[in-house]
Amino acid sequence: MTAPVKSGPPRWYRPRSLRGKLLIWLVPLYLVMALLSGVASCFRYEALIHRFMDELMETLAYSHAAGRIEDIAPLPVVSWRSAHENGAVIVQLWTQDGRLITSSRFDAAVSLQATPGHHVVADEQDKDQVWRVFTAPPGIRASQPRVQVLQSERFTKKEVARRAFFAAAPVALLVPVTLLVLWLVVARTSRSLRTVADDVARRDDGNLDEIPASQVPEELAPLVGAFNTLLARLQRAFVAQCRFVQDAAHELRTPMTAVALQMENLRACVPDGQARDQLAQLEAGMHRAHHLVEQLLRLSRQDVPATPPPTDPVDLTALLRESVGQCMALADRRRIEVGFDGQVAPVFRASVSDLRSVFDNLLDNALRYTPEGGEIEVRVHTADGRAVVDVVDSGPGLPHHMLERVFDRFFRMPGAPSGGSGLGLAITRAAALRQGLSVELRARDDGVPGLVARVHLPG
Ligand SMILES: Nc1ncnc2c1ncn2[C@@H]1O[C@H](COP(=O)(O)OP(=O)(O)OP(=O)(O)O)[C@@H](O)[C@H]1O
Ligand SMILES: [Mg+2]
Repeated sequence: MTAPVKSGPPRWYRPRSLRGKLLIWLVPLYLVMALLSGVASCFRYEALIHRFMDELMETLAYSHAAGRIEDIAPLPVVSWRSAHENGAVIVQLWTQDGRLITSSRFDAAVSLQATPGHHVVADEQDKDQVWRVFTAPPGIRASQPRVQVLQSERFTKKEVARRAFFAAAPVALLVPVTLLVLWLVVARTSRSLRTVADDVARRDDGNLDEIPASQVPEELAPLVGAFNTLLARLQRAFVAQCRFVQDAAHELRTPMTAVALQMENLRACVPDGQARDQLAQLEAGMHRAHHLVEQLLRLSRQDVPATPPPTDPVDLTALLRESVGQCMALADRRRIEVGFDGQVAPVFRASVSDLRSVFDNLLDNALRYTPEGGEIEVRVHTADGRAVVDVVDSGPGLPHHMLERVFDRFFRMPGAPSGGSGLGLAITRAAALRQGLSVELRARDDGVPGLVARVHLPG
């Protein structure tokens, strides 16, 4: 037993879009990089600043330690602001026995450290204030002062933090920049994909041409290649199927014509009565089968035209008169009145055989589905600024939801009179499309039951 496939919306950490996938990897990567580079430069800069400042404090301390206690003058006062913000050092001068002689700031409460060297000491009065202290070793002579130099730890910390910020900021700034670049690149790529998809979506059923691989990103070329191989296989299968129908229909025509002839010969020998009726039914069935074969042949030729039909300047009025003339015999037999009204006489280039296919099928439908004693009118006029041909009948018409459906191959309305194959309108639409025309069916707008088959002419 196979386990059910889990479907549903993708979780946020498993996005399906390329943009989402890139973001989910790159954004955390950049943030971690920013953090790491901030922390690393924190450590490096702290070590650097301490070494530099320690050397400075030592030099300063030794320069004061070389003097004599008697010559000591009060030291210039250092402001708190420059001590904490600019890193200005505070110098303390002491007697050998640990009495403070002078200081750049008397309120820096740090006593003389017992051991010479570097120390980190909390202020004795303000516990939040931490000092980096260098205590110079005692001099050889008793007249020499003891020197202690202080520097605010707050200054070092602030400098280190600032340095870390400047190291991390550019990397962190990359996050929005990357998002923007990603968005633009992916949007551009998906736009090119959408263009290809739109082109494919706009194609008609018979267009199985290759999808151009040059218009999609290289990464998708294998997918497009696979699709093109599939399309080529489909095209071959489609052509083979049409050829088969064409060959079969063509081969069927000859024996059917022979059978029809035989039946005609037979009619003279069949006496009136039941046998004659049965022969008439046989003839009608044969006629239907012949019509179906003809329609199939016409349709399959349209699907795979060996060469595009030649186009000539067409006098549409003359062509329509001819088509109407051809159906007059049947119309008379069925007592249907056929009228022609050519208000405009458009002339354009088209294939005459395709145009005949269009109008003969529409007239054939009008004649076939209009009851005896009805009316048919062929009108060439202008509607919405375009030249159109209307074939208007007084038949039963079609319900609104069937007006498009009847263009499907082999579709016939339930209860439609026998004799049709359901291919006429499919043939009409395909032939019309090939000549740049469009066909639609609509209800009559004069309140009379019936159907209007409208053909929009080019231009
Ligand atoms: N003028 C019309 N009035 C009413 N129904 C129509 C009309 N034209 C077409 N139809 C309906 O649409 C269906 C499809 O028409 P279509 O011309 O494609 O096939 P058909 O007439 O049945 O067969 P054929 O292949 O011989 O033309 C018809 O069976 C009929 O039910
Ligand atoms: Mg028809």
